[in-house]
Amino acid sequence: MTFPKDFLWGVATASYQIEGAVSEDGRGETIWDRFSHTPGKVVNGDTGDVACDHYHRYPQDIALMRELGVKGYRFSMAWSRVLPTGTGTSNPKGLDFYDRLVDEILAAGITPFATLYHWDLPQVLQDRGGWTNPESVKWFAEYTDLITRHLGDRVKNWATHNEPFVIAFVGNYYGAHAPGIKDLPTSLHVAHHLLLSHGAAVPVIRQNVPDARVGIVPNLYAVDPASDSEADRLAAQYYDAFQNRWFLDPLFKGHYPADLVERLGDNLAGIDLASVSQAAVPIDFLGINYYSRNVLSWDESNPALPFRHKNPAGAPVTAMDWEVYPEGLYRTLVRVHQEYAPKAIYITENGAAYNDPTPTNGVVSDPERTEYLKQHFKAAENAIDQGVPLKGYFVWSFLDNFEWAEGYNKRFGIVYVDYATQQRTPKQSARFYQQMIGALETEPV
Ligand code: FCB
Repeated sequence: MTFPKDFLWGVATASYQIEGAVSEDGRGETIWDRFSHTPGKVVNGDTGDVACDHYHRYPQDIALMRELGVKGYRFSMAWSRVLPTGTGTSNPKGLDFYDRLVDEILAAGITPFATLYHWDLPQVLQDRGGWTNPESVKWFAEYTDLITRHLGDRVKNWATHNEPFVIAFVGNYYGAHAPGIKDLPTSLHVAHHLLLSHGAAVPVIRQNVPDARVGIVPNLYAVDPASDSEADRLAAQYYDAFQNRWFLDPLFKGHYPADLVERLGDNLAGIDLASVSQAAVPIDFLGINYYSRNVLSWDESNPALPFRHKNPAGAPVTAMDWEVYPEGLYRTLVRVHQEYAPKAIYITENGAAYNDPTPTNGVVSDPERTEYLKQHFKAAENAIDQGVPLKGYFVWSFLDNFEWAEGYNKRFGIVYVDYATQQRTPKQSARFYQQMIGALETEPV
């Protein structure tokens, strides 16, 4: 494979999934603390209380990244560590943790990519309505201001939200994530305020970080109809509007997709749809999280969102039951480039969960993950050949970690974590990644 010489090969994580130390140094409760401690919400009753104990082990973790030759590290910050009550008084110890973390990353010669919001809203703000409250736009701008003033001298790459679709709809419509609400109009309000808060935060970042590169990270899917029928074609169109265009259109075109607006009808009551133009501020990069494809058929049982997804029979799947479909990464990249033309694109997450064996003599054999990665690297290379301005790729994830509603049951890491001992063991996929990054570095491209 050939990649541009300055292509940024990285790894990704998120605060609640790895940090642990949930009651240390003044950190406030988040919606994920509350949700994971509510019986029945997370597989096995797992919580992020300890997770990978990264809060204490970050020096070793960064050292391991360096050993693997990783060039970029995408991580997120916990709002409730730096503003335990959501707004108002900041917490010096929380800021100090991210100071030390960033210094460690930079000392290892790794480029930090910070995500401001990867789902761990302070619970006190949820108690005031969370993202349904129009004030949330200001809350987010305040938090953004604090953290970018603090770290902006060293961190230049900033993303506002990770996966607004998941925050809005998995958290507030399907109810499978915190805060566990199941109400379509609520979730649409959440989506709206997430978009507005992005629009409000970008200029704050630019003001505090003169040479900032700012973006946002939607999770995008390749979408196909289950058959040639007109009904299934329409199902795929509506699903695409819901999953992909509900965020991409506002961010790049300043309006919601008309087809789904019409379909959703009264569910959108009370939302000033035109105000979403405020989300269309210029950004420097789009981060894309890509995992799979969804194949849709028409399902009238939910008239507002009339589709149902099912994997094609016999399709290869990961332990999440997500179809392995590298072609979809290529298609997504080319499509985003052609329809939305962001200045630069990063694949901010891509990776796979498999049922890994426990380490034997320091080795974890995970050939399926290595194969998954190889195929997606190839798809990325093909997209670059088609002129897509793809600048980097972050494997999800550096470590096995707290996989939200799946708890510790699903392992996405290229590094195995034994949660009883907190021992880290690079899997064979990590060794493959290490060799590949090293080999590409010495290539004359
Ligand atoms: C994405 C999330 C990330 C991780 C992966 C598997 O939706 O952004 O935190 O859970 O899925």
